[in-house]
Amino acid sequence: MNKKRNRIVAGNWKMNMTYEDGRDLAMAIIDQLQPSETKVVLCTPYIHLRSVANIVNGISNMFLGAQNCHEAENGAYTGEISAPMLKSVGAHYVILGHSERREFFGETDELLARKVDQALQHGLKPIFCVGEKLEVREAGKHEELVAQQLRNGLFHLKPEQFREVVIAYEPVWAIGTGKTASPEQAQEMHRHIRALVAKKYKQEVADMTSILYGGSCKPSNAVELFSQPDVDGGLIGGASLQAGDFVAIIQSA
Ligand code: 13P
Repeated sequence: MNKKRNRIVAGNWKMNMTYEDGRDLAMAIIDQLQPSETKVVLCTPYIHLRSVANIVNGISNMFLGAQNCHEAENGAYTGEISAPMLKSVGAHYVILGHSERREFFGETDELLARKVDQALQHGLKPIFCVGEKLEVREAGKHEELVAQQLRNGLFHLKPEQFREVVIAYEPVWAIGTGKTASPEQAQEMHRHIRALVAKKYKQEVADMTSILYGGSCKPSNAVELFSQPDVDGGLIGGASLQAGDFVAIIQSA
């Protein structure tokens, strides 16, 4: 982990937690958290955003994030939520391109590029997810696939826009499976991602880009993963639903 870059640990609650449970979880995290330089982002379902904003408001280095947004600013899109709506309830970040959105909701790189533009236009920082499925890794094409996801989803941005983006590498085969990428596998991909960013933008931009690891990250493996030079924190699913585990992961960063 490099000291120049923002260290970030983001919790992705996915579709979990009733309203009350979410409020209790956010309060428990705050109770247990020790002050540190690591930025903590709680990416909650939409219904929690307002109440969690009230809870984290004023706590230094704690931010609110959403898990998706629509690619249009407003309009007749029943059931959807726009970037300006998220901003208006206090969100700072939005996860875009999570593999579950790509897989279950058919989100393509092209659609994601438009969502990234919307988010940035309204002052939200995208946490842009990339990662390969097991068969792609077994075919030795994982670096190529991640390069394609970055090119199509992000590399149309101007350097000053790109600076607002956080990248999350989440190998699909490690998500919710208990099978974590080894620290070496994570480092290898993170280094590859940073080299691609340096080639497209400048080394200086790449050096400032936070790249998070996600996929079965837990207190027992966080220290080793986060100690890799190009791993700048984590995007945590299951373990972010337990205040104790999540705080332990934050403290590993
Ligand atoms: P798990 O930590 O549950 O494997 O989920 C990772 C993830 O998808 C975070 O976005």
